[in-house]
Amino acid sequence: VGESVQKPLLYYRNNLDSTLTVLEVMRAHNCHQFVFSSSATVYGDQPAPLYETAQTGNCSNPYGWTKFMIEEILKGACRADPALSVVLLRYFNPIGAHESGLIGEDPNGIPNNLLPYVSQVAIGKLPMLSVYGDDYDTPDGTGVRDYIHVVDLALGHIKAIDYSMSHTGVEAINLGTGRGTSVLEIVHAYEKACGHEIPYKIVGRRAGDIATCYADASKAKELLGWEATRDIDQMCLSSWNFIQKNPNGLE
Ligand code: UD1
Repeated sequence: VGESVQKPLLYYRNNLDSTLTVLEVMRAHNCHQFVFSSSATVYGDQPAPLYETAQTGNCSNPYGWTKFMIEEILKGACRADPALSVVLLRYFNPIGAHESGLIGEDPNGIPNNLLPYVSQVAIGKLPMLSVYGDDYDTPDGTGVRDYIHVVDLALGHIKAIDYSMSHTGVEAINLGTGRGTSVLEIVHAYEKACGHEIPYKIVGRRAGDIATCYADASKAKELLGWEATRDIDQMCLSSWNFIQKNPNGLE
């Protein structure tokens, strides 16, 4: 998100160009199914729970705008081609790792997102977590998000591919758990997973952050027969397993 504000053209060129190219190549080769990794960021700042019918757009950064614009490109492509099937998967906050410890996230430099940051504090690579604000209108004052285990997210894609094989047209579907978890709840769950305290300090709010964001996850259940089954403790345990096995990232 931050980089996209610094280098907007890079993001528009990379994300929009590649989408158009894939659509053209699909047409040339008679391929009709497109499952898109979209984001809850297309909803902007609206009251939770977020339904797929909520208005999209009003994004706060170029990364978010590319997700919104690609959704619009795909909707237009579907209107023009009745054979096309598009599933717009709106991810909430994917975290955690595969249980093997072989696949996980390895951000470049200092992580921006909460979980990779917490995991690097837990393993001792970073001294302390900064919690961005404890004065939000949430139960403990810290930001609330819908964290979803990355393996649940992956399984949602398999269901979406199955769905796209037997349907045409476009469907937007949230991939979330439908439950919100605060920053401090994540910190405490991670402490339980790693067996020691995670040092943190409360600092000011981060620009552009919202108080609360979580999904209504019922459409995925109805349409795809999918729901997330892994809880916050499993998400934190899998993350801790991954960072212990890969303290220096994926080399
Ligand atoms: C961000 C992006 C979203 C993207 C997602 C990827 C924005 C506005 N949104 O979501 O588009 O799809 O990452 O997963 O940037 N926090 C701390 N300390 C930290 C880091 C985060 O307190 O060091 C807090 C944040 O204030 C927030 C929560 O943790 O309340 C989650 O933050 P983060 O993991 O960055 O995700 P989002 O901001 O929800």
